[in-house]
Amino acid sequence: MTAASQMIAQLEQLFADRGARQYHGEPVSTAQHMLQSAALAEREGAAPELVAAALLHDIGHLLHDLGEDIAEQGVDTRHEVAGARYLAPIFPNAVTEPIRLHVAAKRALCGIEPDYFDRLTPGSVRSLALQGGPMSAELAETFADKPAGSAAIALRRWDEGAKVPGAEVPGFAHYLPLLRQLAGA
Ligand SMILES: [Fe+2]
Repeated sequence: MTAASQMIAQLEQLFADRGARQYHGEPVSTAQHMLQSAALAEREGAAPELVAAALLHDIGHLLHDLGEDIAEQGVDTRHEVAGARYLAPIFPNAVTEPIRLHVAAKRALCGIEPDYFDRLTPGSVRSLALQGGPMSAELAETFADKPAGSAAIALRRWDEGAKVPGAEVPGFAHYLPLLRQLAGA
């Protein structure tokens, strides 16, 4: 088994073993949330790299053992950095950068769209405060102008839409060919 296929098997295992963790007080599990994000990306015809990014964007939440209610306790686990680092050995930047930046993208969207903040769920508002709060309009525009920034913003929109209880979406196995191709496994 190559390092890449080993890592992909590990990802599948993380979804199975830890994916049932509740997603920040939202009515879906973390695995369901990521699968719904990927389904939205795929439905919009996003590039394979972005579909993979959507599928794996919160993997950082499954890497720690700090408990499900860690954000409620006021701790920011920097899951976006942990996730991007974890995936970097086998996936290209086009997968890991939107993941690393998807929290910043939420802060940016608050600076770009005045009503974006109002649409955030309570769990999302709570984590936003821990993550540094909204960006200024100027900083947000600079962020959105960069390719990785705009990819992260696209990811963020799927992320926000992926909290539907009981939605029927493809499982992890559906994405194995795409992940293998991106990782050269
Ligand atoms: Fe998410």
